[in-house]
Amino acid sequence: MHAKSILIADDEAGIRTSLEKALSKVGYITKTASSGNKAIKFLAKNPMDIVLSDLKMPDGDGLELLRAVKENTPSTEVILLTGYGTVLTAVEAMKEGAYDFITKPFKRATILSTVERAIDRQNLTQENKYLKAQLGKGKAYDTIIGKSQALQDVLAMVERVAPLTSTVLITGASGTGKELIARALHQRSLRSDKRFIPINCAAIPENLIESELFGHLRGSFTGAMRDKEGLFKVATGGTIFLDEIVSVPLNLQVKLLRAIEQKEILPVGSTSPEILDVRIVAATNKNLANEVEQGTFREDLYYRLNVVGINIPPLKERVEDIPELVNHYIKVYNAQLNKQVEGADQKVLQFLLEQEWQGNVRELENAIERAMIFCDGDQLSLQHFLRTSPNNKKELTGDLKASVRKLEHDSILTVLLTTKQDKNKAAEILGLSVSSLYRKMTELGIE
Ligand SMILES: Nc1ncnc2c1ncn2[C@@H]1O[C@H](COP(=O)(O)OP(=O)(O)OP(=O)(O)O)[C@@H](O)[C@H]1O
Ligand SMILES: [Mg+2]
Repeated sequence: MHAKSILIADDEAGIRTSLEKALSKVGYITKTASSGNKAIKFLAKNPMDIVLSDLKMPDGDGLELLRAVKENTPSTEVILLTGYGTVLTAVEAMKEGAYDFITKPFKRATILSTVERAIDRQNLTQENKYLKAQLGKGKAYDTIIGKSQALQDVLAMVERVAPLTSTVLITGASGTGKELIARALHQRSLRSDKRFIPINCAAIPENLIESELFGHLRGSFTGAMRDKEGLFKVATGGTIFLDEIVSVPLNLQVKLLRAIEQKEILPVGSTSPEILDVRIVAATNKNLANEVEQGTFREDLYYRLNVVGINIPPLKERVEDIPELVNHYIKVYNAQLNKQVEGADQKVLQFLLEQEWQGNVRELENAIERAMIFCDGDQLSLQHFLRTSPNNKKELTGDLKASVRKLEHDSILTVLLTTKQDKNKAAEILGLSVSSLYRKMTELGIE
């Protein structure tokens, strides 16, 4: 805490000097003024924490000074010194925001304790302000679009479980918004002023995951040159998001389970456990129950993580969200690409509603971005979507059905080639059942 500053305003030089001496001796920064008007002038350039002012002064009295202070720097506390006969005025002054008044003659101790109390109040007010600002900050949520019942159910669940500390398992296909929902859980929790740390477990080499998560001591393995804090420690008080949780190797799953159950972590090479204070949110686009059945994911950990399960349905099952998402991304990319697109025409919406959206919201977002790059007018129309890549621009203009057919034909052929005609694999990649793949192939004349 910085040293507090006090302005002493009194027309009697003797009082100024004695107050200055008493206050600076205990560590306050003091300034003096010989009249109310001089004090007001000084404060205009030098805001002070406390003003200690005589009530009766010839040139601008204490009351005028108080009003000026409360108008310009309301957080400055004003203490008034009153002579005999001005007590009533002093009481009035308190109604106008003076912190307290002290009657003359005064004791040094009275001055000191009154100043101290005024400072306590000031600190408290500032702390409250800070806390309120923090609360406000927590409300800066990411935009989550969608009025479909399916998404509303997800959001209702988020509101309900956000304040709790229980682990949450978010499931959903790629691009459905798992990370978005994980962030929403954090933003709506009491931990929102601490960090949200997303970790893609699939992106960290298996032999490094443990030390990344739990930290390590210097020399605990070759290359561990110094102690390293794990991400669980970095996230203390906040939320850790373990994305693609199935990528955590079995031996580490055991340690993760122990960390959650005993609320402590053991850095690699250490024998003294550290307290774990993080909210764990995990996510996967796989069916974890299946992984458990196949023995690649521990059943006990699965149950631990899945205390609360949130499943985000694929976009195809909530197509009513598409129009709003389209408008949202048009706004986003107008700003990013410096365009003036106002909307998409009816045919575009129809087209978008009919797509499969294997990549869900992310794929839709990419489609809008791409189309907007091609659009120079104020309306997105089909041609902007069909000119997907510069290469097939020529082939893909004109009749929509023909274009879609061409796209389907090419994608199926490409996948069949890359899978060496393994129909099961191809169907999986294409997101089709094997029978639909056969049907499509016949329809499109693919041998
Ligand atoms: N309902 C929504 N409203 C607005 N934006 C959304 C919504 N759902 C998803 N998005 C956006 O779509 C993109 C993909 O979302 P996100 O990264 O959360 O998906 P994911 O499920 O984690 O995907 P993956 O499994 O591929 O990691 C992000 O840009 C996200 O902001
Ligand atoms: Mg993700």
